[in-house]
Amino acid sequence: MAINILGIESSCDDTSAAVISDGILLSNVIASQQVHEEYGGVVPELASRAHQQNIVPVVDAAIRRAGLDRRDISAIAFTRGPGLIGSLLVGTSFAKGMSLGLRIPIIDVNHLHGHVLSHFVREKADDRVPEFPFLCLLISGGNSQLILVRSYNDMEILGRTIDDAAGEAFDKCAKVMGLPYPGGPHIDRLAAEGDPKRFKFAKPHIPGLDYSFSGLKTSFLYTLRDGLKADPGFIEANRADLAASLQATIIDILLDKLAKAVKQTGVRAVAIGGGVSANSGVRAAVAEFCERHGLEAFIPQRKFTTDNAAMVAMAGYFKYLDKQYCDYESAPYARVEI
Ligand code: KG4
Repeated sequence: MAINILGIESSCDDTSAAVISDGILLSNVIASQQVHEEYGGVVPELASRAHQQNIVPVVDAAIRRAGLDRRDISAIAFTRGPGLIGSLLVGTSFAKGMSLGLRIPIIDVNHLHGHVLSHFVREKADDRVPEFPFLCLLISGGNSQLILVRSYNDMEILGRTIDDAAGEAFDKCAKVMGLPYPGGPHIDRLAAEGDPKRFKFAKPHIPGLDYSFSGLKTSFLYTLRDGLKADPGFIEANRADLAASLQATIIDILLDKLAKAVKQTGVRAVAIGGGVSANSGVRAAVAEFCERHGLEAFIPQRKFTTDNAAMVAMAGYFKYLDKQYCDYESAPYARVEI
């Protein structure tokens, strides 16, 4: 009989459910929450309530689109953390209830493991997947990490941000430019028409493989302040150049440490993941870097860059093969390392 894993993701503001059958993705349903837009950021309590509304229809749709009945599910994998605790509670409690009802195991998944293992989600049996060991640059709204991936469950964080995440740098700078939340995709769009060399922003000098983005943010703010002093229409007149220069600086910072990590570890493959890996500039820069250094590049399809349950089901599938189930006492956690 096929191993059918239902994955549930509810760590932030996307309610998602997916079904993976013998390692192949059958369905991946995502309900995004628009309710946060007017607040300029995710409001945790509103997120929990939206998850409660979404979870039943989303899970139902994922099983239906997979062409299965819920009695065909072998186990339920759910994101246990890190994330917003109220949001995680919805997915965790739902997974427990459903598993009790169906008498099937539950498997807890570390959200960050999920992002890394999203590279193993195959839609067709011959889709390319990375060989171990490889480096994963995980860049999202909450994390910026360089991870050495030795196997499905053996990962080491070589570097991480000591302040803001790459996504926060995009979002916070976009916010002061008056762009809607989340600003990352808007910067991406504007950057395509701007001059990346027009403005110079500060780059960090942090030893080792750690990242820092708060200095860049401050220097971006100073540029806006000085520009606005001279011309109240400064932002409007320079939107595209500001976006392009900001994006180019973030890419430089990311690639600088990535190059160091490749040298240090001697890996032959590099993968990127997380929301910021949807950025056109980042994707092109990593692909070009890998080509120049003879490395294999794994750039995820855009639908697997943001939070999705396909990656949770995938991580759950590997744990299922090892019989790594969890018990009903397992509570969600807001923060955790890999
Ligand atoms: O992984 P993710 O969906 O969840 C969180 O960790 O919150 O990442 C969301 C982040 C946001 O900061 C968003 O602005 C950023 O990913 N993002 C982008 C792009 N698409 C999403 N940043 C730059 N360019 C994009 N195209």
